[in-house]
Amino acid sequence: MQYKRLVTEGQIPVLGLGTWLIGGGQEPDYTDDKNAISTIKNAIHLGYTHIDTAEMYGGGHTEELVGKAIQDFSRKEIFVTTKVRNTKLRYNDVLQSVKESLHRLQTNYIDLLLIHAPSNTIPISETLRAFDSLVEAKLVKYIGVSNFQVDQLIEAQQHTKNKIVANQIEYSLLTRNTGRYAENKDMETKTIPYCQQNNIIIIAERPIERGLLLKSHPLLDKLEVKYNKTKAQIAINWLISKQNVVTIPKSTNEKRLMENLGALGWKMDKEDTKLLDEAQFVS
Ligand SMILES: NC(=O)c1ccc[n+]([C@@H]2O[C@H](COP(=O)([O-])OP(=O)(O)OC[C@H]3O[C@@H](n4cnc5c(N)ncnc54)[C@H](OP(=O)(O)O)[C@@H]3O)[C@@H](O)[C@H]2O)c1
Repeated sequence: MQYKRLVTEGQIPVLGLGTWLIGGGQEPDYTDDKNAISTIKNAIHLGYTHIDTAEMYGGGHTEELVGKAIQDFSRKEIFVTTKVRNTKLRYNDVLQSVKESLHRLQTNYIDLLLIHAPSNTIPISETLRAFDSLVEAKLVKYIGVSNFQVDQLIEAQQHTKNKIVANQIEYSLLTRNTGRYAENKDMETKTIPYCQQNNIIIIAERPIERGLLLKSHPLLDKLEVKYNKTKAQIAINWLISKQNVVTIPKSTNEKRLMENLGALGWKMDKEDTKLLDEAQFVS
């Protein structure tokens, strides 16, 4: 696995495993637990040592599945990211949420704790005071945010003594400056350059836009042949070729987990990266 430097001493794997829809959507789904746990274990064996989850996923059940899967491994080999939902950002709610996440994850620390999305009602100073106390108590190693724009990143950093090390945002060949939600805008022109200049890792979520990116496209079709790689591998390789960008494709299929790992360890010619930078993709 390749890594990117997190802050001065830490590192984050370039490719991680997304877990949205493993063990349910907003609500828990217990029907496929055995497969889900063995898929996550298998992914870790294959090299996916960063697992991205959230208290919201599967109404908490996804964290339970991740917790069961990681028990077979040395804890320090795994980098666990989880997120506090934006309705739980009051000081005491954050502490309670993280206590519950740690319990479900069966671990005594979280590597990276993110604010899942900004809140319009709860002051960020209150949330980050709780994040700071969790770092102080060594329950959380690194803190970050998700779906934040530049002004929100600047404000957040002013309210914590810890470095905001990461911003998880929707970013792929398809969603350049405009994502699904109103808050996901200006990623390429504003948020990413700001993160790159300020030593913040960009965790690109939905790297293949749930498969939408894998449709025929003249440039992707051409690059597939030129590099003997699949469209998913090209889309992921394009992301991680960028300064400070790591990503977290979700798959529960061994063949596709392997395929996505095949996005690592090679480089496209600069001209092709530029063509992709300039290409238009539509869903
Ligand atoms: N912070 C946020 O607000 C936020 C929002 C959305 C997502 N996320 C995180 O980002 C992760 C990734 O996003 P996502 O799961 O929405 O979308 P994604 O990773 O872009 O796509 C996942 C979908 O594509 C399929 N897939 C994976 N690899 C493939 C390949 N090589 N070829 C064809 N199909 C492939 C998967 O199916 P199979 O499982 O059948 O392979 C799954 O249906 C999430 O799981 C979650 O952890 C965070």
